[in-house]
Amino acid sequence: MRKRSWAEPYKIKMVEPVFMNSQKEREIYIKEAGYNTFLLKSKDVYIDLLTDSGTSAMSDRQWAGIMMGDEAYAGSANFYHMEEAIQTHYGYKYIIPTHQGRGAEHLISKILIKEGDYLPGNMYFTTTRLHQELAGGTFVDVIIDEAHDSESNFRFKGNISLEKLQKVIDEKGAENIPYVCMATTVNMAGGQPISLQNLKEVRNLTNKYGIRIVHDMTRVAENAYMIQQLEEGYADKSVAEIVLEICNLTDAATMSSKKDALVSIGGFLAMNDPDVFEQARNLVVVYEGLHTYGGMAGRDMEALAIGITESIHDDHIRARVGQVQYLGEKLLKAGVPIVNPIGTHGVFLDAKKFLPHLTQDQFPAQTLAAEIYLDSGVRTMERGIVSAGRNSETGEHNYPNLELVRLTIPRRVYTQAHMDVIAESVEYVYENREKITGMKMIFEPKYLRFFQARFEKI
Ligand code: F0G
Repeated sequence: MRKRSWAEPYKIKMVEPVFMNSQKEREIYIKEAGYNTFLLKSKDVYIDLLTDSGTSAMSDRQWAGIMMGDEAYAGSANFYHMEEAIQTHYGYKYIIPTHQGRGAEHLISKILIKEGDYLPGNMYFTTTRLHQELAGGTFVDVIIDEAHDSESNFRFKGNISLEKLQKVIDEKGAENIPYVCMATTVNMAGGQPISLQNLKEVRNLTNKYGIRIVHDMTRVAENAYMIQQLEEGYADKSVAEIVLEICNLTDAATMSSKKDALVSIGGFLAMNDPDVFEQARNLVVVYEGLHTYGGMAGRDMEALAIGITESIHDDHIRARVGQVQYLGEKLLKAGVPIVNPIGTHGVFLDAKKFLPHLTQDQFPAQTLAAEIYLDSGVRTMERGIVSAGRNSETGEHNYPNLELVRLTIPRRVYTQAHMDVIAESVEYVYENREKITGMKMIFEPKYLRFFQARFEKI
């Protein structure tokens, strides 16, 4: 068959200049930032791969929607557009807007979790797990073992192990499990998808015990694309159809609209149960705002309504994931150790293999993120021991298997030439890896320490 490459399904109408400062300047900035890339100023960054959260480029249609903001305190027209987009494309009945994903996590945790409960999930996400713990619950990891192995090439590393889930149910009792927390494309595993077959099996098992599934749908379209590409029987289905099929297998969802849905800010809690909805509708006014804005401006709800429809187009998602794959394949070719298979929202460097001479206590991923910034002004993020935090009972560091640096690609923002420069820089740091020394932590905040912790070179 004749080959035709993917290309961006858009052209550029407005640009934002970026520039690379000097190595000398970067040495000062990263030291001032305590070797934590979260503490750098954006003006001192050349290519920003810190996160794909709130960093997407909006379309001309979304910007037009911004001008149609109805900033009424109650009953904004934009809320009803957003509600309709969510109901149509994600299939959930009831919608509560929140300021972003963790606002929705907070509400659902407060409503469904009681002291002493257990929350099985396909690996954790930092804010999700913290809200479960603050509500009195204990998170239990039930993702398949392959997810913890950066070398395993299994295509659906986001899958839930039915044996592990059954074991939690047998040991803790279904009455102490308010829901299974199921994420589509598992961020902390390296952006790895769950298969529809696995989700159906999880649905059957949870149905037997009357346990809900709460869907972290932050990157559901990317997961749907991987199902279309890889799972038998889905090649002829559209991403939009697969997204709906995933959502229909779950009872409720938390969403950070800042990722898949192509907006700068926003989120929502969605569900099908009218009783849970009534409670959420009441609680949202305490923590977020009235139930028709929940912390979002009217204009942002309009941009979201439009962003949702754009995010599930096959052309869009193919180019989005295609760009990530392009960068990943370049690094693979150069022999740089990355998580396999390449994820959907970023490429994850395996810092344990990259810097084998550092112990995990010397924060290899934190160190590597700082080194890449030093080399080229490219900002990346640690996803390893610092992100994993401490065990809430023993106070010891959690030691995750995966010690990663995430090169997160914002949607529709950078070009293929940017990907080339990023790859060159990572390859250069890799070639010179032996000279790199580790770090010690000199300041540690109590919650979500990775955001504000400070380090010093040993
Ligand atoms: N769930 C997942 C899978 C996420 O990746 C995030 C955010 C959240 C929930 C929380 O949403 O930020 O809107 O409150 N992830 C960002 C990231 C911060 O960089 O991966 P939020």
